[in-house]
Amino acid sequence: MEPLFEQMKQRALTQPMRIVLPESTEPRTLRAADRIIADGVANIILIGDKYAIMASAHDLGLTNIEQATFVDPSNEEAIEKYAQLFYELRKNKGVSIDDARLKARDPLYLGCLMIKNGDADGQVAGAMNSTGNVLRAAFQVLKTAPGVSVVSGAFLMMLPEGSPYGDNGVMVFADCAVVPDPDAQQLAQIAVLTAKTAHDLAGLEPRVAMLSFSTKGSASHSRVDKVVEATNLARQMAPTLDIDGELQADAAIVPSVGASKAPGSTLAGHANVLVFPNLEVGNIAYKLVQRLGNVTAVGPILQGLAAPVNDLSRGCNVDDVYKTIIITCNQAINK
Ligand code: ACO
Repeated sequence: MEPLFEQMKQRALTQPMRIVLPESTEPRTLRAADRIIADGVANIILIGDKYAIMASAHDLGLTNIEQATFVDPSNEEAIEKYAQLFYELRKNKGVSIDDARLKARDPLYLGCLMIKNGDADGQVAGAMNSTGNVLRAAFQVLKTAPGVSVVSGAFLMMLPEGSPYGDNGVMVFADCAVVPDPDAQQLAQIAVLTAKTAHDLAGLEPRVAMLSFSTKGSASHSRVDKVVEATNLARQMAPTLDIDGELQADAAIVPSVGASKAPGSTLAGHANVLVFPNLEVGNIAYKLVQRLGNVTAVGPILQGLAAPVNDLSRGCNVDDVYKTIIITCNQAINK
């Protein structure tokens, strides 16, 4: 495992968090849960029928799953308090108590309701559910952290050894997963939250570049204006944040290009956090960098929720699930 994950794992070991895994019979999830339990990294909560889960664990040859906590969504008595909680949270949105009981049986919602009720610290899902379904349950139940109105998704980009970019082989990219078309205010929030993720999880001193197809007025367009406005708003939100924009990608990370296109900017050419103007750019960029640049992309790490929930790709492997649980533990400790 990369040194950064070793560090995060050691931190998680000092204060094991209660992490819900709603996709409890999914083989990659179950294998990762078995390793997490064996390593003592977290207290795992599995949602589902204990006998079905244990049968899956047995088929996979896993020996630690029995030590998890099991919560059965078909046990109406046990989940009634969560149904009542969902009803209270959503009745002003037209949700009836019968609707709430149905939602509380949905493992993605039940996990979030457990966190909201103080019975768990974080959730990891998405190996067999779409991003939208994982996110909607978190948005509806947990909502955003104080002072935040928009949740976004960051990636830790673990660069190949010897790369001249980033710090200690890491850069952070956002938003690559959630907000299709942020306005300037939302983009500013994404920048501030991504800097915090870079600092709190990756140990970086963030230097944030607000990316565009223009550098310091080289092009005129309403899309460029949005990035300039977002940069100014982010400066107001976080006056000590090291941030600059609008910058093209090369001006952001290549010192000679930064010096020639953005003279006077101390950040241009040295950014370690890249904020993309919209989700099309962010999602495509991280996938291209990952595939063409031989970069390990870890995420999306959801930022801005009131409690940590993270989404897996349906193409994830056991290592991805294991690392995402470690990240979620660290977010819960930071909280
Ligand atoms: N932050 C905080 N709350 C949000 C956000 C957000 N970014 N987006 C929606 N919400 C809230 C809404 O305010 C609403 O709250 P309310 O019901 O209490 O009023 C609730 O979530 C549901 O809102 P909807 O508008 O119904 O949500 P929507 O159906 O638009 O879904 C979603 C939101 C799923 C995040 C949507 O924006 C989306 O699909 N984004 C793209 C996700 C994606 O496919 N990413 C790429 C793949 S991931 C990858 O490649 C790594």
